[in-house]
Amino acid sequence: MCGIFGIINDKNNQAAATVLEGLKKLEYRGYDSWGVSIISDNEIKVDKHIGKIGEAQTNLPPGTIALGHTRWATHGGVTDNNAHPHLDCDNKISVIHNGIVENYHELKDMLIKNGHKFKSETDTEVIAHLIEEKYKSKNIKEAIFETFKTLRGSNAIAVLDYHSKMIIACRNGSPLVVGLGKDQYFLASDVPAFLKATNEVYFLNDGDAVILSNDGVKLFDIESGKEQVLKPQVLDWKLEDAEKGGYPHFLIKEIYEQLKTIPKTTSINGKEILRLAEKIKSGYKVIFTGCGTASFCALTGKYFFALQGIEAQSIPSYEFMPFSKFIDNKTLVFAISQSGETADTLIAVKEAKKRGAEIVSIINARGSTLERLSDTVLTVGAGPEIAVVSTKAFSAQLSTLYLLSMAVGNNYDEGKDKINLLGKVLTNFLNPVLINRVVDLAKNLMDEEHMYLIGKHLNYPASLEFALKIKETSYIHAEPFAAGELKHGVITLIQKNTPCFVLASNDEVKDEVLSSAAEIKARGGQIIGIAPFESKEFDILIKTPDLGELTIFGNIIVGQLLGYYLGVGRGADPDKPRNLAKSVTVK
Ligand code: F6R
Repeated sequence: MCGIFGIINDKNNQAAATVLEGLKKLEYRGYDSWGVSIISDNEIKVDKHIGKIGEAQTNLPPGTIALGHTRWATHGGVTDNNAHPHLDCDNKISVIHNGIVENYHELKDMLIKNGHKFKSETDTEVIAHLIEEKYKSKNIKEAIFETFKTLRGSNAIAVLDYHSKMIIACRNGSPLVVGLGKDQYFLASDVPAFLKATNEVYFLNDGDAVILSNDGVKLFDIESGKEQVLKPQVLDWKLEDAEKGGYPHFLIKEIYEQLKTIPKTTSINGKEILRLAEKIKSGYKVIFTGCGTASFCALTGKYFFALQGIEAQSIPSYEFMPFSKFIDNKTLVFAISQSGETADTLIAVKEAKKRGAEIVSIINARGSTLERLSDTVLTVGAGPEIAVVSTKAFSAQLSTLYLLSMAVGNNYDEGKDKINLLGKVLTNFLNPVLINRVVDLAKNLMDEEHMYLIGKHLNYPASLEFALKIKETSYIHAEPFAAGELKHGVITLIQKNTPCFVLASNDEVKDEVLSSAAEIKARGGQIIGIAPFESKEFDILIKTPDLGELTIFGNIIVGQLLGYYLGVGRGADPDKPRNLAKSVTVK
């Protein structure tokens, strides 16, 4: 939920500015406030402010070691004082934190009794004072490890220590990764922060701690305090992955990247997909789970499987528990997540694991908690997704599920051909003519407060995803329904000129959907068709490529584009929608 970035041995002696730049790459993880701390002559100096990091600069003094943070507030309002980093009483220890310290009230009471002075309302400040307290009788490593063990909840902390000139970090639940550059070392909550300098990384496991100093990076087990062997890996991510590359926003860049990332799914995971397909054919129960966009992907997976004659369930992770009792050791649970860190998804997966299920995760980010919990990982290879709103990770996950369903139906090669064709057709589809049509539509809809969407069968989850893109990016109320639901109450919402999107494919339910469109039109609704065919029911049509069951990809991409242009037109930041964070690591 928060971005963490620290550097040891900044070559330009401008560590604060380097950290600020890195934090800008992590702003998608939280953008209520930001802050940087640096070791200066006699103490640690901090610069922290509410608001987005955007074009921010800092006047902190020069130095080679700094640590910073972007915040998505949990405890304590969005104020300068509550922004991280937080200091101890003597300004010698600076702490940043991702997570929630569940027992912070009792710790704070104890520290106040011992004379510590607090400047913020956060749970994080407790950590700085607790380390200060323990540092009186122990070395810094012991003081931090002991403090960390005292904290309840899922937390990652990073500490900058004036005396030892080290950054020490501990992980339990929230992501942390170390970057190993040339005589420079980095700590971050995500790789894009330091990708410019290195792609040699180590993702911390729960229970790991790292100490970064001028001598390098050392790995420790927090419980025993013993040093471990650090085995770094080299990622195939490139610098361009974390840059806008000429696009005005990451969101639009990532929408276009789908032209490559969707077909890329045909060249990865093949062996695993075929192995899993055999298991499913042998009678394993299939459950798809995820949150938000990933839950819509899960629901689409259920339709893809039905097309192949195989039953599957889809359960949003936050509603998983009542149904977990039906899980046994002949169940495959497919957990879908861009970040692999979504708390609700992890809870569902842990429960399923306890009940004997095999866990297969369909993830985009690397080194995540979900990856570690899984028996099998299908990485979807979309590269870092920086915009908070998910697009390319979603479509790569969807494509992976489609390929799996085709493998289950003994049609894997055909599935790969169809996805490769989809990539080519989409490349032609995303042309200036389409963009102009979407921009014109966005201009027409700019001042609307409510929109409705209908879809049936595969176009039902597609309309859920289309609507979410509009809501997240433009803040317009867009409500999706299964077309069949319309007559059962929803139709009361339709008034003269109410915009209603009709998502459709050339499939067996096309006529039924068009009948629903006619019912809306008869009540004055303005019908916007998102479909590969023309119809007299449509007042406006954005024509999408006719690709059978894969038509939904084009339909959804129109929603992504429309959300983007509506958001830009309405003055929202499409990369960082208000109140949202990229990985939701709290329940
Ligand atoms: C929507 C979006 C969210 C995420 C959800 C799950 O654009 O990004 O709805 O899909 O928070 O996140 P992951 O996929 O990281 O588990």
